[in-house]
Amino acid sequence: MPTEDVWSNPSLAGPIEAARMAAFLEERACCPDQLQAQAALRREVAAVSGEHILEVGSGSGVLARLVAEDVVPTGHVTGLDISPDMTEAARTYAASAGLAAVITFETGEAESLPYDAGSFDVAFAARLLLHAGDPRLVMRELRRVVRRGGRVVLMDWDFGTVAVDHTDRALTRRILEWRCDHHGGDNWSGRTLRSHLIEAGFRDVRVTAIVCLALDDASSLTASLWRAADVALAGGAISQAEHTAWRGDLDARLASSRFCASVVHFIAKGDR
Ligand SMILES: C[S@@+](CC[C@H](N)C(=O)[O-])C[C@H]1O[C@@H](n2cnc3c(N)ncnc32)[C@H](O)[C@@H]1O
Repeated sequence: MPTEDVWSNPSLAGPIEAARMAAFLEERACCPDQLQAQAALRREVAAVSGEHILEVGSGSGVLARLVAEDVVPTGHVTGLDISPDMTEAARTYAASAGLAAVITFETGEAESLPYDAGSFDVAFAARLLLHAGDPRLVMRELRRVVRRGGRVVLMDWDFGTVAVDHTDRALTRRILEWRCDHHGGDNWSGRTLRSHLIEAGFRDVRVTAIVCLALDDASSLTASLWRAADVALAGGAISQAEHTAWRGDLDARLASSRFCASVVHFIAKGDR
């Protein structure tokens, strides 16, 4: 489903906006719900010392840096991203973390990876397939560049699984559905990952569902809900009065510790 999607290539928004998006990824990665999802992804990637790992759609490099800790001292992580500005930002963040020797960041497209067949032990892509125009092309490439016996791990959230406790159910449905269907790529991508791996010919496909809770405004999901209301307003799906009322109800819940929302991140893994 085509939707407005700045994440399909942040560099198209210009270098200043792309740098802001890289900083956003770094900041979001520190939120408790994101730490939970990252830890689950790291478990599923299960990298060991000496392995050569590829992350496709590596963004600012948060996950590449995490996995790099598992492959030292003899392994290596390569991060590839379509956005030259993201690549540059990722190099800077990795250097600051003292990981420049273990990670290489390159610019390129997931649909035509610039690597020989069988170059990697593991390839992973987190929050990439929902932004890819044709996930099947990406899957074909992931399968090609992983060695026989290697593995591919995919993670996407699924905005269609968002649950929010709110007084006005009809308005909540309208906002969430509008956000899901019109903004930020294929927001049902999470539930499709299993199918993508099977259709691409991977063996022994396993799926894990991570439920991330938001009980306060420290969670990244809470900020995502504010953005959902904003884009629904900008897209004409709700009025300004409805936006104010929806936010007001959630703000009151936050103030009285009654706020409760969740989203599912799917992680799927298959062997080559
Ligand atoms: C939402 S960010 C996720 C970054 C990182 N994986 C993470 O989870 O923190 C998606 C990234 O995928 C990149 N991307 C989108 N489409 C791509 C494509 N076709 N090929 C390579 N990278 C792509 C974007 O530039 C962006 O940096």
